[in-house]
Amino acid sequence: MRVKVSVIGCGYLGAVHAAAMASLGHEVVGVDVDEAKIAALRAGRPPFFEPGLADLLLGAQDKGSLDFTTDIADAAEARVHFVCVGTPQKPGEFAADVTYVDAAVDSLLPHLSPGAVVVGKSTVPVGTAARLAGLVQPSGAVLMWNPEFLREGHAVEDTLHPNRLVYGVPDGAAGETATAALDEVYAPMLAADTPRLVADYATAELVKTAANSFLATKISFINAMAELCEASGADVTMLADAIGMDDRIGRKFLNAGLGFGGGCLPKDIRAFMARAGELGADQAVAFLKEIDSINMRRRVRMVDIAREALGGSFIGKKVTILGAAFKPDSDDVRDSPALAVARLIGTQGGVVTVTDPEAVANASRAFPELTFVTDTTEALTGADAVLLLTEWKEYRDLDPAAVAGLVSGRVLVDGRNVLDPQQWRAAGWTYRALGRP
Ligand code: UDX
Repeated sequence: MRVKVSVIGCGYLGAVHAAAMASLGHEVVGVDVDEAKIAALRAGRPPFFEPGLADLLLGAQDKGSLDFTTDIADAAEARVHFVCVGTPQKPGEFAADVTYVDAAVDSLLPHLSPGAVVVGKSTVPVGTAARLAGLVQPSGAVLMWNPEFLREGHAVEDTLHPNRLVYGVPDGAAGETATAALDEVYAPMLAADTPRLVADYATAELVKTAANSFLATKISFINAMAELCEASGADVTMLADAIGMDDRIGRKFLNAGLGFGGGCLPKDIRAFMARAGELGADQAVAFLKEIDSINMRRRVRMVDIAREALGGSFIGKKVTILGAAFKPDSDDVRDSPALAVARLIGTQGGVVTVTDPEAVANASRAFPELTFVTDTTEALTGADAVLLLTEWKEYRDLDPAAVAGLVSGRVLVDGRNVLDPQQWRAAGWTYRALGRP
């Protein structure tokens, strides 16, 4: 059945969610305060790079209907309202800034009618939903929390084919109403065997933070092993393959290298520590501090390896950095490890040029002091060292012999362990990597 739906916040999460819900046949209005973003979406143009989103926006109109607006009053007719705004790290603190969530719910309040359901999807500190439920209740609407597990670069697929759903609902009839409403919205996309867990608010909120903390822990664990491999002459990629064959461990998220960045993992583990502290449970997540430290150390180690490979100094050396986004298939540069490395090398006297297939515009806005080029060949020409820091396919597929013809010095540092050392060494390159001899 067609449901009238609103999506508040049209960023990486909300824009995809709005288009996906319309593609399921619903009548969707996306709301955001950013006029440029809304204008782009209205014209069917994704305001950021996300594979599959352009097609989804185009196709959405065929099945349901999709409109975008800056006026929250246009959401008044919707029965289900999704809150998809960001919860960034507070400047100078570990805690998450929930003011956008508060503002979204506040702005919705005058437009809520009895029977409406407000579905929080943003990642929030545990306790937020219970607090907001008190604000929503007088309108006769119900609040529920339905954390989103999508990965950037796979957002369309993850939204339309979730591997599980978690609903955080209040007890009793209100919880049943909310569950039934969200079931109706998601029904067209659910496989018969998609697990759906109906929980209380706090559990639903914690599922999301715990999942991201576990992923961050896996990455930092293997990066800690990379430090040991560097100290002992072992190879972390083989180590990861071998331990990953134990299906209690699993090979996914054991790719050692420059570590994690982006708008989620780093800020989520920090917000988790801050919230645990407020709840008097600091010790339970104290280990996350170490997870964060291991992750940040990899950036420094990367710079050290590159400097060593260049004979001990960056001064006057042209260093080409392949990748600016925090991961491939994304133009997101929030907390990008690649850009952190670029900046560090710049402060040590290196002449840095950064290139990326999609993220140059965002990166040059965030780091105007760095030099960016969009063309890979231009970036590589005359380089004394090449650093592969974001593993886009086009960089993984580079031909060592062809690149050798462009550069001044054959020094390659593979920050993501995605190239074949033998192939690069055979073409005359000095190949260095994190966690490999
Ligand atoms: C993450 C979660 O995966 C997702 O479920 C949640 O909803 C949001 O946060 P995302 O930030 O899009 O998604 O990226 P993800 O694919 O998880 O990668 C995060 C970072 O970890 C990237 O910088 C990536 O390069 C790095 N990473 C990932 C590694 O360094 N090694 C790995 O093995 C995997």
